[in-house]
Amino acid sequence: MDGPLVFAHRGSSYDLPEHTLAAYLRALDEGADGLECDVRLTRDGHLVCVHDRRLDRTSNGRGLVSARTLAELDALDFGSWHPGGVPADGDEVLDDTRTRLLTLERLLDAVLEAGRPVRLLVETKHPSRYGAHVERRLVELLRRYGLTEPRPDHPVQVTVMSFSALAVRRIRAFAPALPRVLLLEVLPRWLPPGRLPFGVRVAGPDVGLVRARPGLVPALRAAGNQVYVWTVNDPADLDLVLTVGVDGIITDRPAQTLSRLGR
Ligand code: G3P
Ligand code: CA
Repeated sequence: MDGPLVFAHRGSSYDLPEHTLAAYLRALDEGADGLECDVRLTRDGHLVCVHDRRLDRTSNGRGLVSARTLAELDALDFGSWHPGGVPADGDEVLDDTRTRLLTLERLLDAVLEAGRPVRLLVETKHPSRYGAHVERRLVELLRRYGLTEPRPDHPVQVTVMSFSALAVRRIRAFAPALPRVLLLEVLPRWLPPGRLPFGVRVAGPDVGLVRARPGLVPALRAAGNQVYVWTVNDPADLDLVLTVGVDGIITDRPAQTLSRLGR
């Protein structure tokens, strides 16, 4: 396949509530090459797919995700805050895939059931809050699924992403063959032009950074790195990243992106 990979950011999260199974299944139906997912730990050590530290924005719960057990989170509604989580008039089918909490394990099972190749980008959140646990738990889970190293015969390929250099280093220590992305919102002073640290081969810049620093992506790629850019929803941003040339596009609107790519 020519052109960049298209990843659905939190699923097809423009149309359906982010991080719900429905949003991920929609992205696969639309033809996304891969899925992006944020993970955090519950109080009892489960990896759940939730972006925010708090429950307030994306559920009917309040307070910290990390203060709740999985059973407590499972009792909450993670979909009705979003128009796509509410049945339209005449839509009698609203199963719990649009409102139920998604765990990483449930997502992996769904992706394996999809019966086609899927690239999964898993972003660990807040490594300092959870100590090494979030990365350790992630590697333990992926090991159970045989996903800690790229296997050509396996339909699911996992890459771990983080803004945190510490998290990226931990992943390298726990699972050296697991591909890693260093996410960049700003350019750290310590990062030499075009270079990535800790054996990372993929940079994940914010599209705003790509706009502000036109030389960044060419320098990274000239040095042999790949670039996955986020979150590309605006058509002008999509034109920009296609002009610059990137390896992956992370978007809330995979169908729109794929259509622009003629796929
Ligand atoms: O894909 C990277 C991107 O998701 C990072 O930002 O805040 O959406 O997790 P955020
Ligand atoms: Ca993310």
